[in-house]
Amino acid sequence: MKNIAIFASGTGSNAQKIIDHFRNSDKARVTLIVCNKPGAGVLQIAEREAIPSILIEKELFFHSDHYIKLLQEAAIDMVVLAGFLWKIPANLVHAFPDHIVNIHPALLPKYGGKGMYGHFVHEAVISAGDKESGITIHYVNEKYDDGAPILQERCIITPEDTPESLAAKVLMLEHQWYPVIVERLLT
Ligand code: GAR
Repeated sequence: MKNIAIFASGTGSNAQKIIDHFRNSDKARVTLIVCNKPGAGVLQIAEREAIPSILIEKELFFHSDHYIKLLQEAAIDMVVLAGFLWKIPANLVHAFPDHIVNIHPALLPKYGGKGMYGHFVHEAVISAGDKESGITIHYVNEKYDDGAPILQERCIITPEDTPESLAAKVLMLEHQWYPVIVERLLT
């Protein structure tokens, strides 16, 4: 049985989908939720699902091995970023080589990088007049949204689309694909 840690900063709808996907699995399960934002929805999900959660501190996260040790003690095999808004420090990337993945709500390398998250991404895509958007699941390295791509899935943008309607289309793709890809990578 493989142990998954989900890192999230917000609502946690992707976290919920991944928890649901592995609920009855004999291959893997979500055993830890890591969050950097007090009051984030994902912490309520962890509580409801009886999954241990930790609220991380900036100084310890960026300037020590504290959380690496904690993840190792918890026997975590894979770190899944699901709307986690801090950059992953180099020591953590190197502690889990090719075992940290992220999902981004656009077709990288377009619309990635610092500050490009959530609605900012969809607003930029709509303003640019793009005809399509989608999701990118990729390995994580020391830079924002920069690691090797694993999967991209696309959706059409119609002239009627707004950042909100595009966000809904993209989120559907995320929910459909992220749990499946995490399972594929683990097995
Ligand atoms: C998701 O759309 C994810 O792609 C995005 O945050 C949202 C989290 O939603 N991540 C980024 O923008 C990272 N750059 P959720 O909390 O409902 O899963």
